[in-house]
Amino acid sequence: MCGIVGAVAQRPVSEILLEGLRRLEYRGYDSAGVALITQGSKLKRVRSLGKVAALTEKLAYEPIEGKVGIAHTRWATHGKPAEYNAHPHFSGEDLALVHNGIIENYVELRERLGELGYTFSSETDTEVATHLLDYHVKKSASLLKGMLSARQEFTGAYALAAVCADEPNTVVIARQGSPLIIGVGIGENFIGSDVQAMLPVTNRFIYLENGDVARVTLHKIEIFDAAGKAVERPIRESKLGDSSIDLGEYRHYMLKEIFEQPKAITATLEGRLAQHQVLSCLSGLNPMAVLAQVEEIQIIACGTSYHAGLIGRHWIETYTDIPCHVEVASEYRYRRQPKRKNLLLITISQSGETADTLAALEKVKQSQACLASLTICNVMESSLTRESDLSLMTMAGPEIGVASTKAFTTQLVALQLLLAALIQAQQGETPVSRQLVADLAQLPQLVQQVLALNPVIETLAERFVEKHHALFLGRGEQYPVALEGALKLKEISYIHAEAYPAGELKHGPLALVDSEMPIIAVAPNTALLEKLKSNLEEVRARGGELYVFACKTANLVPNEQMHVLELPPVPDLLAPIVYTIPLQLLAYHVAILKGTDVDKPRNLAKSVTVE
Ligand code: G6P
Repeated sequence: MCGIVGAVAQRPVSEILLEGLRRLEYRGYDSAGVALITQGSKLKRVRSLGKVAALTEKLAYEPIEGKVGIAHTRWATHGKPAEYNAHPHFSGEDLALVHNGIIENYVELRERLGELGYTFSSETDTEVATHLLDYHVKKSASLLKGMLSARQEFTGAYALAAVCADEPNTVVIARQGSPLIIGVGIGENFIGSDVQAMLPVTNRFIYLENGDVARVTLHKIEIFDAAGKAVERPIRESKLGDSSIDLGEYRHYMLKEIFEQPKAITATLEGRLAQHQVLSCLSGLNPMAVLAQVEEIQIIACGTSYHAGLIGRHWIETYTDIPCHVEVASEYRYRRQPKRKNLLLITISQSGETADTLAALEKVKQSQACLASLTICNVMESSLTRESDLSLMTMAGPEIGVASTKAFTTQLVALQLLLAALIQAQQGETPVSRQLVADLAQLPQLVQQVLALNPVIETLAERFVEKHHALFLGRGEQYPVALEGALKLKEISYIHAEAYPAGELKHGPLALVDSEMPIIAVAPNTALLEKLKSNLEEVRARGGELYVFACKTANLVPNEQMHVLELPPVPDLLAPIVYTIPLQLLAYHVAILKGTDVDKPRNLAKSVTVE
């Protein structure tokens, strides 16, 4: 993934670049580096292993300053996390490059560049790109022309930013597949992987298209498309406030984001519910006319967003006659798909930049295999919203913690809004669509009630610290809730956790059950409650210790082997959203007790813009 930031200004930029990197750390935090054109047009860099804080500390001892520069925070793909693999990479003393993405043909390029006399000091594909750029810059005597030629030779996905000592007031950038945005200032300009990185210095942005190359100087921005033709791209003003990423009173972003859920859900519902119906919640051309024609639905997503899709399928198939399929994008994109009639393709993504999800959308669009594409997304100007015919925005606000929380619950809210809109478009207002609207209106308050369980869950977490494994169980639409609970626990506490549909236990996982294996179950009072209870008995009979988040009315009697945490009664349709909350809190408190880096767990990144 990696995060990129750059600046061309008339003032010192190292602090601007460091702040940009801090805001981009969600994209990776294995190592970080900065390269600046210093006085006398000398290119200098400082790199360090670990997070941006380590780079900041190093810069305090080895200060460098300049008015033009690029910086990078890395998530290792080629080459282990190490200072020598950290960006910016140099070719000679005069050219520096930062890169987000993967240059797939780097092995051939490395061989060719070796024959040309280039030597390598890292294991990265980025250093190969740097030398190739240098080769073309020398040939054309221009950083821009060099980039235009070099990019013809790259295959893969990339966002690149380069500076060169011979052109000291210029940053040249290129985008193919990975996000890259220009921040437009007054007498200064910036580049970054996202808008947040540049919000302290500007709120005007140009979104590059795939294939674009741009030369950014103090007063001028020149953009060239994939064919090398000069093009104009619109400047958009961002409405995002700069304060939205403050930690406030919270110790971690994850906890803050868990507690923000009532507000995020309210914002996602705002202006979209009338007394008995869902009002327009989709942007794009004729959304209701499109929904009226839908005969089949395919949902594509990754990670937590995929779990939201699984719950969405359950709802769609329960309340309409529209068949709905769900698949992780990394599989879907490489699989032959049978032709389907009037297919609505739904992508779900917090960031809107996940490479596999974008590629899957691209594939379906190219084969013209769908009636329309719709994205449920949290970032207004993201690649997915720009590439999709229709968008339904979740209004969760920026989510910084790598483990997704409020993005997930607002995705579920968006799926319910979509379900109601779909029913309204195909059948008009029905008892189900009316029920959906009535239920949704009470959701923020129910979530608030469940958040009050926080102290109880904090105490419960102590029982998990010494455990190495955990099993999560659910049935029906609660099975994806269990999947999400297990994902949260493994992501941030590093405890191995798996989820099973409770009815499937007897076909294998029951063999794992003993007194050392905690089993967490979600038990709202739905039609499958009695079935779940029998499954829990199977566990108890094998000496397993159960932790059940259950509805007050479920009549589950606690005993030595079964701890019951009661939740208020909730309408069936809201149960997956409400029952997710205690599982988020459990994962958070276990991680705290284990002393892990909750907001930036090892080896992970928030936005995965590589395959
Ligand atoms: C990463 C994040 C997950 C997220 C997934 C999909 O793996 O760590 O939290 O669910 O990407 O991201 P998206 O932005 O597409 O929802």
